[in-house]
Amino acid sequence: MSRIILGVTGSIAAYKAADLASQLTKAGHKVTCVLTKSALEFVTPLTLSTLSKNPVISDLFAEKEGWQPGHIQLADEADLLLIAPATANILAAMANGFAHDALTAIALATRAPILIAPAMNGKMWQHPATQKNVETLRGYGAQFVEPASGMLACGYEGVGRLAEVETILQAVAAVLAAPR
Ligand SMILES: Cc1cc2nc3c(=O)[nH]c(=O)nc-3n(C[C@H](O)[C@H](O)[C@H](O)COP(=O)(O)O)c2cc1C
Repeated sequence: MSRIILGVTGSIAAYKAADLASQLTKAGHKVTCVLTKSALEFVTPLTLSTLSKNPVISDLFAEKEGWQPGHIQLADEADLLLIAPATANILAAMANGFAHDALTAIALATRAPILIAPAMNGKMWQHPATQKNVETLRGYGAQFVEPASGMLACGYEGVGRLAEVETILQAVAAVLAAPR
């Protein structure tokens, strides 16, 4: 059993995080979903807390239990931070060390492996700023599940679709199996 933080950001593909949370939980992992404010527009905390059998974090300042900030404890105890789907915005925030919400603060504080599955419009993905952010994050040790090609929700065809849930689960298994 591993402790997995599932970061969910404001992409139309956020509904697939429900499947990820469900499958990872059924596989025996302890999954804590952390949603950005934008992610709340796409998927409900109720769905994710029910499927992960665990409370969801979406507000950095809504901590009530214990003396240690919950997001730091979560970051310290995690075996993996998986961000799926990851927006262009979260890539930019993480590449620049922002900590303006629970997910970005956890991403900075954790020393667990970070696995990122981006999803966005193809032009956003191919923009040099996004590609530079990806390279910066790779340089910090983050690993990526590359977005796939196909019909995108924005109506364009191209690269930018969230990788298949099965592909992401295989990448999770590989990261968890790798020696740290
Ligand atoms: C309908 C809709 C779909 C969106 N889908 C994506 C997406 O797939 N990828 C992305 O990078 N941004 C997408 N956005 C824009 C993000 O929601 C926006 O950049 C937001 O600020 C991201 O915040 P977050 O990274 O904190 O979750 C979408 C916006 C809307 C209105």
